[in-house]
Amino acid sequence: MRLIILKNYQELSIVGAKHVAGRILGESRPFVLGLPTGSTPLGIYQELIRWYRKGKLSFKQVISFNMDEYLGLATGHPQSYHSFMRENFFSHVDIQAPNTHILNGETGDPEAECRAYEEAIKAAGGIDLFLGGMGEDGHIAFNEPFSSLNSRTRVKTLTENTRAVNARFFDGDINQVPRAALTVGVGTIMDARELLIAASGPNKARAVHDAVEGSVSHRCPLSCLQNHPKATIICDQAAAGELEAGTVDYFNSLEQATREWASRELADQPSR
Ligand code: GLP
Repeated sequence: MRLIILKNYQELSIVGAKHVAGRILGESRPFVLGLPTGSTPLGIYQELIRWYRKGKLSFKQVISFNMDEYLGLATGHPQSYHSFMRENFFSHVDIQAPNTHILNGETGDPEAECRAYEEAIKAAGGIDLFLGGMGEDGHIAFNEPFSSLNSRTRVKTLTENTRAVNARFFDGDINQVPRAALTVGVGTIMDARELLIAASGPNKARAVHDAVEGSVSHRCPLSCLQNHPKATIICDQAAAGELEAGTVDYFNSLEQATREWASRELADQPSR
């Protein structure tokens, strides 16, 4: 696992966007990108939009799969993840509507919807990069604590804690927050060829600590990252606040060493 600790949210957003853009630009075939909702990725989306507007990045070759959607919430509801993605990202860039996929929370047959989503991911060739956030309790997508680490796309009952945290999007009223969601599973996320998970603020410090320093456990679904061959957490200093000093030093020095090594490699290139 790679852990990159940035100064603040703005730096995190720039580094996150740079990472995503670099992968998209590096691929000639369609690039399959997993996408999250929530407050954390907003800065990354804004950066990506900025680069698109400058003509430095195009999403025409991108196929996207969102992580989750509330069950029973109309697609057009202002707090549906369909609305979130349209308002905060899709309507600002050149991604092709048929290439975007979000679970349908209005479905009459949730199980068939989830099975079809898994099939669609497979048909697209699997996810190249899954960008994600995390819940305060270490949930990933809507995989709440004690979700199976092998789970696939399915219906998940939301915990009281998650509904209370998300009530801020529903006039502060927990009763308006749906009680269940459709979500990709931990296994679905683990199948992605690369994971990039962002965390900002002191509320995420416990989840970052559990995921990085705890053992792999369904208690903290995010700890699955320890078993992924190519997973990176980017977080700001506040979200790193519950890590041991030695852990922070270790990851900082690794990043420093990588930067020095990369610049030495560049210096060794013959000049043109
Ligand atoms: C929701 C989403 C998650 C997201 C989490 C954190 O529960 N289903 O995918 O990671 O919120 O959101 P935020 O970034 O707003 O803290």
